[in-house]
Amino acid sequence: MQYGADYNPDQWPEEVWDEDVRLMREAGVTVVSLGIFAWSRLQPAEDVWDFAWLDRVLDTLHAGGIAVNLATATASPPPWVSATYPDTLPADESGASYWPGSRQHFAPSSPTYRRLAGELVRRLAERYVGHPAVVLWHVGNEYGCHLWMDFSDAARDAYRGWLRARYVEVDALNEAWGTTFWSQRYGSFDEIFPPRLAPYSHNPSSMLDWRRFTSDMLLECYLMEREILLAAGATQPITTNFMGPFKPADYRRWAPHMDVIADDCYPDPANPHRVRDAAFQRDLVRSLKPGTPWILMEQATDAVNWRPANPGKAPGVLAAESAQSIGRGADGIMFFQWRQSRAGSEKFHSAMLPHTGTDTRVWREVSALGERLAALPALPAPGRDARVALVFDWENWWALEERDHPVDIEYLPIVVAWYGALHRLGIPVDIVPAEQIDDGYDLVLAPALYLLRAEGAAALTTFVGGGGTLLAGPFTDVVDEHDQFRPGGFLTQLGPVLGVRFEDFAALGRSSGGAMGVGALSVVDTGGEAETVRFDLDGVTVTGSLHAEVVHPVGAQVVSTFADGRSAGAPAVTRHRSGAGEAWYVATMPDADGVAALTAMLVEASGARPLVPDLPAGVEVARRGDVVTLINHTDAGVQLTLTGTDLESGVDADTWALTPQQVVFVRVPASAPHPPAPTQNRTHP
Ligand code: GLA
Repeated sequence: MQYGADYNPDQWPEEVWDEDVRLMREAGVTVVSLGIFAWSRLQPAEDVWDFAWLDRVLDTLHAGGIAVNLATATASPPPWVSATYPDTLPADESGASYWPGSRQHFAPSSPTYRRLAGELVRRLAERYVGHPAVVLWHVGNEYGCHLWMDFSDAARDAYRGWLRARYVEVDALNEAWGTTFWSQRYGSFDEIFPPRLAPYSHNPSSMLDWRRFTSDMLLECYLMEREILLAAGATQPITTNFMGPFKPADYRRWAPHMDVIADDCYPDPANPHRVRDAAFQRDLVRSLKPGTPWILMEQATDAVNWRPANPGKAPGVLAAESAQSIGRGADGIMFFQWRQSRAGSEKFHSAMLPHTGTDTRVWREVSALGERLAALPALPAPGRDARVALVFDWENWWALEERDHPVDIEYLPIVVAWYGALHRLGIPVDIVPAEQIDDGYDLVLAPALYLLRAEGAAALTTFVGGGGTLLAGPFTDVVDEHDQFRPGGFLTQLGPVLGVRFEDFAALGRSSGGAMGVGALSVVDTGGEAETVRFDLDGVTVTGSLHAEVVHPVGAQVVSTFADGRSAGAPAVTRHRSGAGEAWYVATMPDADGVAALTAMLVEASGARPLVPDLPAGVEVARRGDVVTLINHTDAGVQLTLTGTDLESGVDADTWALTPQQVVFVRVPASAPHPPAPTQNRTHP
């Protein structure tokens, strides 16, 4: 288990470095991410290079037994780059430049940026590939974090090249984008621009490609640096730090190019759903590279500086949140940053070593965690522990949140709501695209799969045919990979499995607040209440929102019908035996109670099982191989039933009493607590 933080020794006089290493050892630090923002120190002018200080830092760390995750330092170009090469600067939608003075002020597709960054990486790589301290390479930093869309001329040129490579013939693009609409037909790729400021909606199919392109440009920057590192003979693993469910970058496409997945996660202490949301993020990154541990590359020890209000963590939360990552597959726990900065935008951000020193609660908690992790026996790799999958897909996310739909929908709250119901029950879940669904799962939830590729539909269909249980939510199977309707209506691929025929989306409206738009098609947020509908589920009255779709059963059994609204009497929930499995459809977005009730029914129908029975609220359970992590996130003591051995103390037990924020790692017998007979419900007797 690695333990450490970002280390920015360039912000400090050299006298501090020895003390840093001494205190790192005291805190149990094993590794630091070094020099992430050090470009201006390494190359103070175009033809001036200074590696001597970095040589000394690396040697000092190595002598102290601290390993290094060496950064390529390309995330914040020095002022001379921006002043000499304005073509490295990105532009906004209106063409206005972003300027230096902060960080990430580079156009990812700028050839000049890539040339300069590439040269820096080459020199770093050639100098340090053989340094014994370097165990990992940290490329860039949080690609796209602040600026993920660049509309500059460099982006324009790269976009045209990217489209040319994708479509070869411009008429193939015209077809994919449906450009006969509104006279948008292109005569050549050179007539295409990034979606800069326009009078009204951009072509939605073009927006989907634009999203793909912007994600790919960031990925190209990463790949360029990776290639340089490899060419220089780097044998250490290479990574960059992800940001969980980060919309601009399709991490699914990045993951194959990462030797180890690394993720930054900053749960908001004020968020009442903090534990659920962070668990979702950790399961998402774990699912990016199934079967391999990942690294929590950054978290805060206490408060951050970048929210409007920045409360600190309650005592014990630091360890509990770290254990959440470990339980969900992390083999490294790291922070931003080692020593709190004295200057700059992040001087109020917490660190392992606070500005107020070591006689602090943060230091004590940091050191205690380091000591505990150092003694923790090795954990098994996270394997195929989950028998439930939640479908999550970046392209679908992008297309779903485009404008001009029956109703505006936010994707993340929907998938997280369904994830939350499983998390509450203590049921392990993988978060994967539809194409990755196979018969290793008992239950698959696809709550909002608007863009459904043919391969994904085929995988879901095979899954149900083979005995799996599928839930599809509203606004699913609506468009193809170009954001175009498929011929023949909606639910054209999943309709037969679901046993329903789709008639109408029946979007739910919002009551008017009385405001008026100026001119045709102007958008005015009236601030009115969102319309809802009701239906009954096992005696629970559920409220539905967004849609109350009109679907007709074609073989499906109607579980519940809409009790009110324009769709009253139409099925709200259906279930359909199909092959050896079963497919459910829910024609609206249920409220939290509805999601919980439906999840319970699906769990029952599918044979999926919680890791421990009757999990108390606020208590978390996660599994990696034969180790189950129990975390009490509440302020009260709790008792849990689970047969196993405390990994740290060696004590055997059947019940576990956990104090507030307490964490226990329990090794369980190989057969438990997976479902006793995973296939028992598959024949639907
Ligand atoms: C991100 C960055 C770090 C730092 C932290 C602050 O994760 O990668 O450099 O800015 O945020 O929370």
